[in-house]
This record gives sequence, structure tokens and C-alpha cells, in this order.
Amino acid sequence: MSLKRVSIIGAGNVGAEIANQLVCRELANVLLIDKIGDYAKGKALDILTSASLKNSASYIVGGEDLNLIKDSDIVVITAGLPRKPGMSREELVDANGKIISDIVGNIKIYCPDAIIIMVTNPLDVMSYLAYKVSGFDSQKVIGMAGVLDTARFKAFIANELGVAATDVNAMVLGGHGNEMVPLVESATVSGVPLRQLADDETIEKLVERTRKGGAEVVSLLKTGSAYYAPAISAVEMLECIIKDRKSLLPASVLLNGQYGIDGIFLGVPVVLGSSGVEKIIEYDIGENELKMLQNSASVVKDTIQKLEEAISTAQ
Ligand code: LAC
Repeated sequence: MSLKRVSIIGAGNVGAEIANQLVCRELANVLLIDKIGDYAKGKALDILTSASLKNSASYIVGGEDLNLIKDSDIVVITAGLPRKPGMSREELVDANGKIISDIVGNIKIYCPDAIIIMVTNPLDVMSYLAYKVSGFDSQKVIGMAGVLDTARFKAFIANELGVAATDVNAMVLGGHGNEMVPLVESATVSGVPLRQLADDETIEKLVERTRKGGAEVVSLLKTGSAYYAPAISAVEMLECIIKDRKSLLPASVLLNGQYGIDGIFLGVPVVLGSSGVEKIIEYDIGENELKMLQNSASVVKDTIQKLEEAISTAQ
């Protein structure tokens, strides 16, 4: 059977759950890599054992050496530190920056034609770093955040209104931080505008809960951050690429002037297919939400600047 070869770097909760979904749904053959090699091997063995019960012939191998990722079609990066309660994602930039630079240097050596899906935080900055270090075409470096933030927005709307989340049509753009932009004006439930289903105060509450959705989970878990929803969001993107599905969804990509933003990674609507980002969709989101998107971009820009200063001081 010919399946794509997907490497996942980081066998923590998010990485292992992505591996589990890919294998059990027979979406890919998987290499699960972790700096603690036995941990990755143990997770891989556990997942492999469950695959036959799910009628899947996918295989999965775990290990420590980054050279195992050789010839991968797609590499998913989940390695790095998660937030602690009270921390912002941006506070992870120095520690995770070093980890990501090292990993991407290896991707460049072992699978120069791969597509990279970034999951590590601060998401938009780590995606930018992967793009810079790899030198890959920008079409092939994609950050996962918009699908997750959108899933949260939809879930909270559905919960509040007492409707099925599958009927909610909405999108969250911008950086994966407190300034993200849940698009309220275009959100609907089966075509009925959200604005006509809830009052302003309720909508503001839904927007704030979406922006802090990740932190809400972190504060409840006490150790570690969310992983079921982040993992399934990454799998959604992987499935689009693997099956060349050409879904339109929000992802963090390099912008070249779209929405008046240039030279950084930020969450915008894109079409995902077998070659990665096949199209960036730029459309009129209205003056107010555009302003919020540009504000979110300026926060990402500042964090990139901080990272670049830290790198040049270290050199
Ligand atoms: C979250 C983390 C993974 O939003 O960024 O849950």
C-alpha cells in the first residue's frame, strides 16, 4: 500500500495524538521522533498495537535520531516547551527558538522536499523561523493554529446558542495569541448571521473566551496544555495535504502584502492541497476586523524582532 511518509518530531501529548490519529485512520505511515528515544518507541509500539484493531495497515516507528526522517513527505514539529499557567505563548520564544532551529536544520538535510507543519508555540514566530532556517519555498511551511482557534470559536458559539457545532460557520484569523481575530461579522449558524442570534455582550464574551481558549485549558490542567483539539486540528491539515483536498481553512503562512501585512507569518484563509499552501485568500473582512488583524500582526512582528535580536546576540 502506498501511503505518505509523515514524520512527527516531539512525542509529547500533541505529537503522540497526531501519530495515533494518522495511524488509526490509515492516513499515513509515521515516524515518531523524540529526544527521549525510548519514549517515542514506546508510544509507537502502543499505537501500532492498536492499529490492527482499527483495521489499519499503517505502520509507525519511534526513535531518537533525526536521520530517521529521511525522505519524509511531511514533517510535523511539535517539539518544545508548553506553557505553564499564567504564561503567554510569546514567553516561550527563546527556549523553543533554539529547539526549532536545530530540528529544521536537520529537516533541510534529510528531507529537503518535505512540507513542514509547525505546531510549536509561539506558533507564528516558530513558523517564520522554520521558513528562514529551512530556506524552503513559503508554500511548504505552514503553521497550525487557525483550525484550532476556529474549532474553539465554533464550539463556544454552539454551546452558548444551544445549536450543533457542525452548523456553525466561522473563522478565526490572525496570530495564535490573545490578539487573534474571531471573525464575528461573517459568522453564521446555517447561514443565519451570528449578530442576529446573540447580543453584543454575549458575542464579546464568545470572542474573549476563544482568544483565551488555550489558556483556559492550561489553567485547568495545571501541567501541560491542550492536546486533543490541537492534534486533531493538525490532522485536519495533514489530511488536506495527503488527499489533495483543497480545503479553504485558516493557517499561518508567509504574507507578502495581503491584508496590508508583509514579511511575517500570520493566520489567514488559505487553500491547502498536495503542494501545501496552494492559494492565499484575500478578501474584504471589513475595516474593523482588518484593523484587529493588523494589530495582531504587529504583536507577531515584535516577537520575531525579539527572537532575531536574541539570535544575533548569541552569535
Ligand atoms: C493552545 C496551545 C497549544 O492553544 O497553543 O491550546
